[in-house]
This record gives sequence, structure tokens and C-alpha cells, in this order.
Amino acid sequence: MRLLVTGGAGFIGSHFIRYMLGRYPDYEIINLDHLTYAGNLDNVSDVSDHSHYSFVQGDIADRKLMDELAGKADTIINFAAETHVDNSITDPTPFLTTNVIGTQILIEAALKYKHSRYLQISTDEVYGDIEEGLFTENSPLKPSSPYSASKAAGDMLCLAAIRTYGLPAVISRCSNNYGPYQYPEKIVPFFIKRLLAGEKVPVYGNGSNVRDWLHVTDHCRAVDLILHEGKIGEIYNVGANNEHSNLEITKKMLKILDLQEDRIEFVKDRPGHDIRYAIDATKIRNELGWKPTVDFEEGFHNTVLWYSERLVINN
Ligand SMILES: NC(=O)c1ccc[n+]([C@@H]2O[C@H](COP(=O)([O-])OP(=O)(O)OC[C@H]3O[C@@H](n4cnc5c(N)ncnc54)[C@H](O)[C@@H]3O)[C@@H](O)[C@H]2O)c1
Repeated sequence: MRLLVTGGAGFIGSHFIRYMLGRYPDYEIINLDHLTYAGNLDNVSDVSDHSHYSFVQGDIADRKLMDELAGKADTIINFAAETHVDNSITDPTPFLTTNVIGTQILIEAALKYKHSRYLQISTDEVYGDIEEGLFTENSPLKPSSPYSASKAAGDMLCLAAIRTYGLPAVISRCSNNYGPYQYPEKIVPFFIKRLLAGEKVPVYGNGSNVRDWLHVTDHCRAVDLILHEGKIGEIYNVGANNEHSNLEITKKMLKILDLQEDRIEFVKDRPGHDIRYAIDATKIRNELGWKPTVDFEEGFHNTVLWYSERLVINN
């Protein structure tokens, strides 16, 4: 396979590239990334010399460049996105440019070269929140933030292209990933950075908002399966049924770092803050045989230690 992986200098994309080069030494991977504030080539420095890997800096909304790169690949996997909900609330426009227009330009590039597969990496946030029960792939989309609305629009464009142009696309919607290499704006590295600097950590509202936590390597294994065995035109939820509130996650971090709970500061809630995300991943479990393998307590502990060592060095 010749893969065009977008957003491969970000958190999940970099893990995916490392995972794929390790598992499929014959595959060619082009990593296309705009290197926004969230992209960092250090995240892929350990594979940069691999003979089947190349990096191109560019924007998925750049049609000429996407046409050129798509011509060198047979498959596109689109991780590239503006991803931080708080930023989308302050300034939604970049989210539309990348997550909507950029996705459409990639779709058109895939169609132009009759690619064998297009994989859109989406999010459980497109369903909105749910106080009880689980969202399935058939649940209606009800996004709450400009970020999740732009991701939902990207999904819709894929579904439209499948139906209208026969795009061989598959969509995956995963829950909250954790693991190394995440930009320190997201809760785990952001809080650790503050704690190591002796600061308090700002927990939104009363901290009761619940997320389903999935180790990034379990997510990469799911994307691999979806890429090779997922059915064209289908959507797969990828979640670990591993629900924790933001307050629980914060207390875990404090415990691992041997710090007291008086470092928690409750702050005004995020506008429109989703109460709980929870997805039903039965389809990928039953049809593709995927299941998460990383034990949460162990995976989370190792993640906190990884950041605590690295963020101290970088300070
Ligand atoms: N992190 C999570 O928990 C999570 C959960 C569900 C879904 N997702 C989805 O997974 C994907 C990857 O998320 P992440 O956490 O790795 O994000 P990230 O913010 O860490 O990385 C995004 C990457 O995309 C690049 N990028 C941004 N705009 C671009 C553009 N216009 N052209 C090319 N590259 C561009 C950035 O430079 C960065 O390297 C996203 O599509 C996101 O919506 C993430």
C-alpha cells in the first residue's frame, strides 16, 4: 500500500505512522502535515530516516498539492484537523477551513486517482452528549461545539461522496485518546505541565463531565483493522467503555505525581460543555474482532510518567 497520511505530526497520526511502519515494512507512507502549533516533527523523529517514509509540509486545503500527493498514493487516511474545542469556541473559522474544506479537497483528490480507500478519522463528539446509554453508528449527529460541528460536516461530505461518486470511504469515530506525544493543551499534558510548574489545575465546572478513555495504540490497531477489513461505506465507533470524569482523571494524575488535591481549582464551565460521551463499539468488536488491550490504570500511569519526565526536561 502507498499511504498518504495527513496530520502525521500530530498526536494520533504520529503514533499511527510509527505503528504502521513497524507492522508493514513494505508500505510506503507520505506524512503530509501543515505543522500548525499542534504539529511537531519531534513526534516522528524516530521514523524520519525510514526508507519508506517521507514528510511533506503542507495544507490539506491546498488543492494543487493534494492532487500531486494523492497521485503518489493509493490510500488516504485523514487525521489532519484543528482539534481543540476551546479554540473552536473562540475562533471557529480555521476549523471550517481544515475540517470541512480540507476534507472535501482530500475527497476530490482520492476520487481523481481512483484510490482504493479513503479513511476519515472522526470523533464521538459528532453525536453530542448523552446522559445515559450509548451512541451507536446509527445515532443522529448533534454536535455541540464548532469543532464537533466541523467534524460532523467532514463525515457528511464523506457519506455524500460515497453515495454520489462511489468514494471507497470508511469513517471511524473514536473516543478520547490518551498517551504520549499529545500537545499540552489537552487535559492530561496541560495539567501535568502546570502541576510541574507548581501551578493549580483549572477543572471546568464541578469536574463531572465524563469521557471514554482509549489508549492511542489501541486506537491505531483499530484504524489498521478498519483500513484493511472495514466495509466501504460503513462507520465504525471505536471506544473502550472506559468512562471517567474529568475530576477522576485529575485526581489520578495528582496521585501518580504524589501531589495533594488542593492543587485543583474549579473554574467557570466551558460554554456548551458536553456532559458525557459514550459510544457503543460492538460493531468493530463483532465484525472486525477489535478490542482494547491496554489496561487503563497501567496505560494512564505510564502516560503521566512519560509527560512528567519530558515536560520537566523541556521546562
Ligand atoms: N485526540 C483525541 O482524543 C481524538 C478523539 C477523537 C477524534 N480525534 C480525531 O483524530 C484526528 C487526530 O487528532 P489528534 O489528537 O492527533 O490532533 P492534533 O491536534 O494532535 O494533530 C492534528 C495534526 O493535524 C495537523 N493539521 C492541522 N491542520 C492541518 C491542515 N490544514 N493541513 C495539514 N495538516 C494539518 C497539525 O499540524 C497536527 O499535526 C483528528 O481528526 C481528530 O478530530 C482525536
